Amino acid sequence: MFGQRKKIKEILQHGIAGDKVTIMGWVRTFRNNQFIAIQDGSSQRNFQIVMPEGILSESDLKRITTGASLKVKGEVVNSTGKGQALELKATSIEILGDSDPEKYPLQPKKHSLEFLREKAHLRFRTNTFGAVFRIRHSLAFAIHQFFHERGFIYLHSPVITASDAEGAGEMFRVTTLPLDQLPKTEENEINFREDFFGKSTHLTVSGQLEAELAATAFGDVYTFGPTFRAENSNTTRHLAEFWMIEPEMAFYDIEDNMNLAEAFIKAIIQFVLDHNKEDLDFLAERLAEEEKSLPVDKRSEMGLLEKLQLVCREPFERITYTEAIEILQASSYYKKKKFKFDVQWGIDLQSEHERYLVEKHFKKPVIVTAYPEGIKAFYMRMNADGKTVAAMDILAPGIGEIVGGSQREERLDKLLDRMEKMNVPTAEMQWYLDIRRFGTVPHAGFGLGFERIVQFVTGMGNIRDVIPFARTPKNCEF
Ligand code: 4AD
Ligand code: MG
Repeated sequence: MFGQRKKIKEILQHGIAGDKVTIMGWVRTFRNNQFIAIQDGSSQRNFQIVMPEGILSESDLKRITTGASLKVKGEVVNSTGKGQALELKATSIEILGDSDPEKYPLQPKKHSLEFLREKAHLRFRTNTFGAVFRIRHSLAFAIHQFFHERGFIYLHSPVITASDAEGAGEMFRVTTLPLDQLPKTEENEINFREDFFGKSTHLTVSGQLEAELAATAFGDVYTFGPTFRAENSNTTRHLAEFWMIEPEMAFYDIEDNMNLAEAFIKAIIQFVLDHNKEDLDFLAERLAEEEKSLPVDKRSEMGLLEKLQLVCREPFERITYTEAIEILQASSYYKKKKFKFDVQWGIDLQSEHERYLVEKHFKKPVIVTAYPEGIKAFYMRMNADGKTVAAMDILAPGIGEIVGGSQREERLDKLLDRMEKMNVPTAEMQWYLDIRRFGTVPHAGFGLGFERIVQFVTGMGNIRDVIPFARTPKNCEF
């Protein structure tokens, strides 16, 4: 039965009048007891079925409702109607699954994103989420292609770990200990020796440390997997479970790292521009429509496609953290006290600062380098000034930080100094230090937040709308 199925996308691209095909999908609309708009997820566009009279009984006609699933056999014909070149003249229609119109939540009208978040099990069937998740797929594919073509090895870093890669203490515990009867040590502390792994374990916040190990054998590696952060950030940019791509390269310095990150972002966006035109057009229009309700000064200066094309074409701006602080302090925003957080050398840039730099000042992606050592992770390489580290963050318009990366500290003594200063336990991390003991090399890498790049490319305002099932504070549905 299913082997005969033709996807709508294929018919729209390659079909010609006279083709005999079988399609299967879900009804979007049904009008005049004759025209069925059907979707099978392969394309942004609905496909029109023209149903000659008498194919279905009166009672079956009533079962053609929004959301019902159908198997339709017929002949491809040139459409006389507007909006499509081809349609299907049905010769037989089989109803595979009914959809009670009184109960089906997705009626053919505009639903709010908030409403659809509650119906995340069905929202894949809408035009917006169809487009978002086809683009998400394309980006994932483009990422693997980009690295594969450059000889990188895809490394599957572990999900359960005993080390805090970022040293920020934002980890979800993994345990099989009974919570109502925790085993205690003589010192009255929880006895993790009795836990499943015989030690305290968590979900990983990053695959970087393991990627560093592999990079010192393969040269170039990348991870692409789920990562978890128990940070209580209820924003449109944060998830408790998100996917991250982390390339790690031996024999790379910070400059090489920036060059790769920039080429990488451009290549994957270009891939979507080349392969998801219809989905992008749909989302661009959706965004333009949405922005009409905003005050003029809050609207984007560019459409979605122009923005993406500009990012692919223009070199990213590159500035140091110190320059960023100077720009912010010289800004009218600062002088008029429009920033909520103060701007001083040494602060962690807040998202309002990052967005000022990219959206108001440079109007394109910006790479900020050489951050104060105190606000960055222990593994970053100390610069010659003794005050800053070889970090780099890429900031994107509308998003803020999209990439975080650095050259790593490959000098054992310097790394030990920094770990001690930042209270990172060295005893359990001998494996990480061994890389500096045996054939250490300059190396660098970065992490791209997958959902943030999907947000950037699709123009979706809320990160919950670019991952199938969002995990955020106090929310773990589906
Ligand atoms: O800047 P971060 O914390 O860097 C790391 O984890 C490094 N180990 C990466 C590396 O050098 N290999 O995170 C990297 C990126 C951020 O720039 C952001 O895009 C994304 O991961 N990210 C999040 N995305 C969604 N929700 C969250 N809670 C995120 N936290 C970070
Ligand atoms: Mg970061």
